[in-house]
Amino acid sequence: MADSSSTTSSTVGQRWGDVEDDPVEVEESTSQTPENASSSSAVEVPNLDALAIDENKKKNDFLDEPEDTHISAVTSGDTLYATAAKFEDLNLSPELLKGLYVDMKFTRPSKIQSISLPMILTPPYKDLVAQAHNGSGKTTCFVLGMLSRVDPNLKEVQALCICPTRELAIQNMEVLNKMGKYTGISSVCAIPSGSADIPIAKSAEIKAQVVIGTPGRIRNLMTSRKLNTSNLKVLVFDEADHMLDDDGFKDDSLKIRRLMAKDNAHYQVLLFSATFNDTVKNFVSKVVKDGNQMFVRKEELTLDVVKQYKVICPNEQAKIDVIRDRIFELGEKLGQTIIFVHSRKSANELHKKLGDYGYGCTTIHGALDKDFRDKIVKEFKDGLTKVLISTDVLARGFDQSQVNLVINFDLPVKHNYPSDPDYEVYLHRCGRAGRFGRKGAVFNLLSVDMDHMLLEKIEKHFGTKIVEVPNWKSDEDFEKALKAAGLL
Ligand SMILES: Nc1ncnc2c1ncn2[C@@H]1O[C@H](COP(=O)(O)OP(=O)(O)OP(=O)(O)O)[C@@H](O)[C@H]1O
Ligand SMILES: [Mg+2]
Repeated sequence: MADSSSTTSSTVGQRWGDVEDDPVEVEESTSQTPENASSSSAVEVPNLDALAIDENKKKNDFLDEPEDTHISAVTSGDTLYATAAKFEDLNLSPELLKGLYVDMKFTRPSKIQSISLPMILTPPYKDLVAQAHNGSGKTTCFVLGMLSRVDPNLKEVQALCICPTRELAIQNMEVLNKMGKYTGISSVCAIPSGSADIPIAKSAEIKAQVVIGTPGRIRNLMTSRKLNTSNLKVLVFDEADHMLDDDGFKDDSLKIRRLMAKDNAHYQVLLFSATFNDTVKNFVSKVVKDGNQMFVRKEELTLDVVKQYKVICPNEQAKIDVIRDRIFELGEKLGQTIIFVHSRKSANELHKKLGDYGYGCTTIHGALDKDFRDKIVKEFKDGLTKVLISTDVLARGFDQSQVNLVINFDLPVKHNYPSDPDYEVYLHRCGRAGRFGRKGAVFNLLSVDMDHMLLEKIEKHFGTKIVEVPNWKSDEDFEKALKAAGLL
């Protein structure tokens, strides 16, 4: 079912993740910006002060949170940042504290929050590149960053967050609205809407104080002069490695920065992701030259709380049998499951086959109608559906704490080199389970030689051994695996 011929359509192009966004409407002449102008020069080593994390204090103080043991943070300049043990240490407004405690029901900052929030919120508001594990609470870092910096009396766009998918933009907007409920700060989600979409040229200029959207839409709003960034204080890239990757949205992201440079040079840039491969890391260091940085070693990025397994199936049909006979049956006793497939075609085929066997599930991918996509996600988030088949459109950022089982029906591969695994996407897919320290399991279904080769490469890359489920037909073996993962 790993049909690469159907993965890319003209709307997807070179891009990862089966993404559909606005096509580019207006082309502008390309002027050099500081970041691309410098892209051929050597990486500058900033004047760094190591902010050491005390190894003796590594015991996990946070209730059910993953232990980001070796986040190495380097600060640029003379500012000293104390870590925040409590939200009260961050000088947040009473309205924001109320949102955090009453609506979000948070009790204290996670590790990434306690280290990065002082860096984000302390003048001179340096740029920040922050890497931390999947599910460790990065959204709160940049949402609080945006909400804290907005001047409530200025009815202009002051914070902008760009995300790779509409699903992530909507999700981040929901977090912002909940966390900022008592602040009165206005916000708008800038994504192509479904049936009700009106042409950008006919839409009103955005006056909301916070804008969260997808790159194509943001770019088009800017070129159509419907999004004025002259008062911008914070620019966030969620899933920043993908936003600045050649295979991702690098062109759009740089274009957006170039357009901004025309009327505003003084805003803070915040880049967040669980993954930054070496190429992107190098590039990022040039984009935020004088910023603070936090990185995690790749060997430490897999989540200990999520147990990874491989299931050796004699053929592709056996993979479907595993889903039908083991996953659906055992899944009854678990939370929710996401099954990742390689292409829109394989998503539709798997959906149909399971449906023919009488097993109900829903499917999401980039070719579906936008309103329908939103409905599928809402139903899953509301717990109305238990098993969701997805392309990589939900691989990154999607947050649903009830998901404790991830199935890689097809392993993720690089767009241009299908014999190479996409290591980052593998990690992000696994990270849909085990959110904020919860338990989870991943079953990698293997049949053809290529599957075996890809998984071996993944094991080698992350320096981990993925345990084999001895017999793909044995309920007992699957039960044992789920027990070992702490799920039964
Ligand atoms: N301080 C906190 N206390 C309790 N729960 C928290 C806290 N911070 C975040 N969470 C919860 O943890 C979950 C994961 O957070 P979030 O989606 O921000 O992770 P992430 O780091 O962005 O992960 P990913 O890399 O997969 O996008 C969310 O459901 C969020 O509400
Ligand atoms: Mg996230």
